[in-house]
Amino acid sequence: MKHIAVLTSGGDAPGMNAAIRAVTRSALDQGMTVSGVLQGWQGLVDGQFRQLSARDVGGIIQVGGTFLGSARSSDFRTEAGRSKALRHLSQRGIDGMVVIGGNGSQTGSYMFSQMGVHVVGIASTIDNDLLGTDISIGCDTAINVTLEAIDHLRTTGSSHNRAFLVETMGRDCGYLATMAGLAGGAEVISTPEFEVPASDIALRLHAAYERGKTHAIVVIAEGVKENTTKILAYFEADKQRTGFELRATTLGHVVRGAPPTAFDRILATRLGVGAIQSLTDGETGILVGWQKNQVTRTPLADITGRIKPVDTELLDLARILAK
Ligand code: F6P
Repeated sequence: MKHIAVLTSGGDAPGMNAAIRAVTRSALDQGMTVSGVLQGWQGLVDGQFRQLSARDVGGIIQVGGTFLGSARSSDFRTEAGRSKALRHLSQRGIDGMVVIGGNGSQTGSYMFSQMGVHVVGIASTIDNDLLGTDISIGCDTAINVTLEAIDHLRTTGSSHNRAFLVETMGRDCGYLATMAGLAGGAEVISTPEFEVPASDIALRLHAAYERGKTHAIVVIAEGVKENTTKILAYFEADKQRTGFELRATTLGHVVRGAPPTAFDRILATRLGVGAIQSLTDGETGILVGWQKNQVTRTPLADITGRIKPVDTELLDLARILAK
């Protein structure tokens, strides 16, 4: 393999820069030329490339986001778009690709590998919904940002005898909400895998109040059907229902933009190096992930279009420990 391209796609995740750095420097070390593709799959369709040297990826390991840019591309979902992207690769003599991204991005990797391109994916999404990895790049940082917000809200909640609804990201997966809720001692965690109806939230908050708590935290994953707005409307009908005054905070994209934790930087570094190793071993159509403390390779054919289930036992644990 002589010339590889690297791109970041979908929602950015803290640690993507560290992964680009690891991919670039380990590929250069193997004597390859490295081209960065700007703006994800869309940039590949449009032919936006930038050659990367070791210096180009210096000073970025500690920075969140992705310096290559990212996008959600509708053009790449079409056959015409993918053929255009393929032409750009062959015109430049690029014979391998590394795609850093989440579920949607890796579906793109799979489709592209089916067209004969040597593609290796790296698991990177704050949602941690990809099969083929225990944890994806960016998730640890997002948990920590959510946790910091929970800690702050609990402090002000205690001063005012308030309960807080805290909504965090995660699309259709409740991993981020579950882990942040567990670490933050939340009274209730509601996720798409295990939704807690507003009536049950009311009962659990009331019980917490009766037990003498001065604050209460309800973590809501963004993918639930009975979302923050609906829960607030339910409580609006009877403001005294729980004993606590109720407030809501939606964290949104703030959980995605922080500097990566040490865990995410190290994970990104390991997976980046693992991706180049996979390409030199002749692998294609695989996801490089982290399972049981090791870099692993999983065929994209086995995992695309599926969502990793969250361990709902953790929710039971959270409920017991919030007593
Ligand atoms: O997939 C990452 C993620 O941050 C999800 O948690 C969220 O649902 C989505 O992306 C938001 O997408 P956008 O940045 O396009 O608004």
